[in-house]
Amino acid sequence: MTPYTVVLATLVSSLSLVSASRWQVPVNCSTPFTPITAADFVQRLNPGWNLGNTLDAIPDEGSWNNAKVTPDVLATIKRAGFRSVRIPVTYADHYVLASPGWQINSTWLERVRDVVDMATDAGLLVVTNMHHDSWRWADVTQAGANQTEIDEKFAASWRQIGRTLACAPSTVAFEPINEPPATTAEHGKRINDLNRLFLEALVDGHNPRRVVTLVGGGEDAVKTAEWFERPPTNTTNPWAIQFHYYSPYNFIFGAWGKTIWGSNEDKTAIVSDLSALHNNFTDVPLLIGEFSASPTNCEASARWRYTDFLVRTARSLNTSVMLWDNGADNLDRTVGRWRDQTSVSLIVGASTTGVVNSLPGGTTDDSASSQWTSAYVFQRVGSPTTSQALPYLFYGNNITSIAGGNGTLSSQDYTTNSTHLLLSDTFLSRHFTPSAKAGSKANLTISFSGGAVPIPLQLVLWDTPTLGQTTSVANTSTGDLSIPVTYRGLPTVAAVRLTSLNGTGLVDTWTQYLGPLQQQRATYSNQWNFDTGHVIITADAVKTVVASGQPAVFTFEFYPRTPGNAVNYTLAV
Ligand SMILES: *[C@@H]1O[C@H](CO)[C@@H](O)[C@H](O)[C@H]1NC(C)=O
Ligand SMILES: *[C@@H]1O[C@H](CO)[C@@H](O)[C@H](O)[C@H]1NC(C)=O
Ligand SMILES: *[C@@H]1O[C@H](CO)[C@@H](O)[C@H](O)[C@H]1NC(C)=O
Ligand SMILES: *[C@@H]1O[C@H](CO)[C@@H](O)[C@H](O)[C@H]1NC(C)=O
Ligand SMILES: *[C@@H]1O[C@H](CO)[C@@H](O)[C@H](O)[C@H]1NC(C)=O
Ligand SMILES: *[C@@H]1O[C@H](CO)[C@@H](O)[C@H](O)[C@H]1NC(C)=O
Ligand SMILES: *[C@@H]1O[C@H](CO)[C@@H](O)[C@H](O)[C@H]1NC(C)=O
Ligand SMILES: *[C@@H]1O[C@H](CO)[C@@H](O)[C@H](O)[C@H]1NC(C)=O
Ligand SMILES: *[C@@H]1O[C@H](CO)[C@@H](O)[C@H](O)[C@H]1NC(C)=O
Ligand SMILES: *[C@@H]1O[C@H](CO)[C@@H](O)[C@H](O)[C@H]1NC(C)=O
Ligand SMILES: *[C@@H]1O[C@H](CO)[C@@H](O)[C@H](O)[C@H]1NC(C)=O
Ligand SMILES: *[C@@H]1O[C@H](CO)[C@@H](O)[C@H](O)[C@H]1NC(C)=O
Repeated sequence: MTPYTVVLATLVSSLSLVSASRWQVPVNCSTPFTPITAADFVQRLNPGWNLGNTLDAIPDEGSWNNAKVTPDVLATIKRAGFRSVRIPVTYADHYVLASPGWQINSTWLERVRDVVDMATDAGLLVVTNMHHDSWRWADVTQAGANQTEIDEKFAASWRQIGRTLACAPSTVAFEPINEPPATTAEHGKRINDLNRLFLEALVDGHNPRRVVTLVGGGEDAVKTAEWFERPPTNTTNPWAIQFHYYSPYNFIFGAWGKTIWGSNEDKTAIVSDLSALHNNFTDVPLLIGEFSASPTNCEASARWRYTDFLVRTARSLNTSVMLWDNGADNLDRTVGRWRDQTSVSLIVGASTTGVVNSLPGGTTDDSASSQWTSAYVFQRVGSPTTSQALPYLFYGNNITSIAGGNGTLSSQDYTTNSTHLLLSDTFLSRHFTPSAKAGSKANLTISFSGGAVPIPLQLVLWDTPTLGQTTSVANTSTGDLSIPVTYRGLPTVAAVRLTSLNGTGLVDTWTQYLGPLQQQRATYSNQWNFDTGHVIITADAVKTVVASGQPAVFTFEFYPRTPGNAVNYTLAV
């Protein structure tokens, strides 16, 4: 369904498709447009969700891990409490003419319009952009890049995208380009040029009054604070600034064993990054267009505390948030199920009402030699069952009930004080029986007197996993090396230590100066990975080992991160 129509002022077919004059003909819209300020728009879209790896996939929608989007996906995110969707679109592989017209395939433009319609039909606000074009052809930092051509192609593209969406309602906003590379002030200026060309292209239909979210270098908070230049004062578009936040990098991306988050230093960094931008642009509405602590690689308690703190800090600085979702991390679109409902509820609660949520505690000290987390009750197979005290950050709320495992827990099962939840040995003995095998034993749900979000607590009986094989000779021609694993507890890898047989770290050797849980640890997806039945050494890591000329030991570490919960794999050369 198309709720708005474009009345072309002339017959496009009668004109040369590359003629510049084609773009000088304004589009008249048959639909009304209710002007909205950028501040209202940004506030109303909070929180939002990203339709990632979909229309931005290369070369086409459906090329990556997600099917073509259907309305049920948008209904699911709306139901979850999201108010907007960011629709990233890559145009790079859809040009049908080169310089100077840079005509985009009309079938593709129509698909973009249909998906935008789908989102507005679902009652969602929309932000749409040019996405991976930023590194495909619009990278101003490339040595020898034809800057004139980048500008020409960028302007021509936005004339066409703008015309395609000219009559969309005021609930649809545009973003010029995703994360444009920039490492110097000079590049920062070029990104300001792109913002200007983008604004100049928004002449059709309702576009001169449409909200836009302008960008700075890399859509990075600090670079934007440094280099972003306000558009001319005669700009008719209400404008906001969009930036992205994936910091600290090591925690978000599973690098160098950083599975711990929440020290004062960690928190100060977030406040300082977000404040730098806010304090430089106190009168400009701000939007974090992407952020995500993914359930695939961030420990649950750390992830929930991080997510809650980030969203809450953003809200305190009048900054709205949109969750990144590549389809493999947050929403399982094939079944409409959130992989981590808790994070979603925390985001919705913290960004809308700001209600204070109680959260499970966990290690916050990066120099610790083991990591505890109150998102789980861990007990090792064969060890005696005792009561367990789990630290909680109650923030003034009380536990009102704990459900799951086998009905609702009674006062014989647990007690609380102002800092801890204490599970009794009789309760835990029912789940951690002497004959029980390793694995997940129960999922409890804790409800609180205040706060929007019940918090899960999983009872896990664990033992050290075993590998189907523990050594092989490195072979650079076989790609990733998948090693069968029998998990005995949580089916995830926490971190991987990578050393040469002589004990020297093989990658990022500076990590030797970090805490004991981070020394010589490699990076998720760069050197290691895992799935439900395998631990994985990446093809890149195999190459690194071969290049070193020495056998290497990969120590796969699991949760709980405690001495002994690790297995070695030796890769010989
Ligand atoms: C578009 O609107 C302008 C200004 O109202 C008007 O002059 C022009 O005739 C309209 N064109 C079409 C095709 O409706
Ligand atoms: C435009 O895209 C459609 C759908 O992918 C394709 O069938 C068509 O050939 C393309 N047109 C041109 C001119 O490339
Ligand atoms: C750069 O691109 C412009 C516009 O397409 C073109 O006119 C010019 O010849 C190009 N310059 C070089 C050095 O290729
Ligand atoms: C804004 O002013 C500049 C000159 O300062 C001019 O080049 C530009 O066309 C004006 N833009 C609009 C939308 O009026
Ligand atoms: C503005 O941003 C710069 C660059 O990040 C930062 O150094 C400066 O402290 C910020 N200004 C304020 C007032 O926060
Ligand atoms: C947030 O916006 C409100 C309303 O515009 C304003 O009163 C308040 O001072 C702003 N807070 C910050 C931290 O900018
Ligand atoms: C929590 O429990 C304490 C002690 O039982 C009580 O004093 C307090 O009022 C309770 N708070 C809430 C929010 O229920
Ligand atoms: C709460 O109970 C735990 C476990 O028994 C204990 O370590 C902690 O000190 C207690 N906290 C307070 C404030 O009494
Ligand atoms: C759950 O309840 C059933 C039926 O009352 C009982 O047989 C079983 O032992 C209970 N399991 C646990 C873990 O408490
Ligand atoms: C608890 O939930 C996890 C997924 O969140 C699941 O893998 C596990 O099997 C569940 N445990 C039980 C005992 O149902
Ligand atoms: C250990 O082996 C690596 C890789 O061959 C080498 O770079 C390093 O110098 C060796 N370290 C020691 C202490 O021998
Ligand atoms: C794994 O190898 C390291 C040396 O690289 C050794 O210190 C450690 O004890 C080994 N762990 C196991 C479980 O074999």
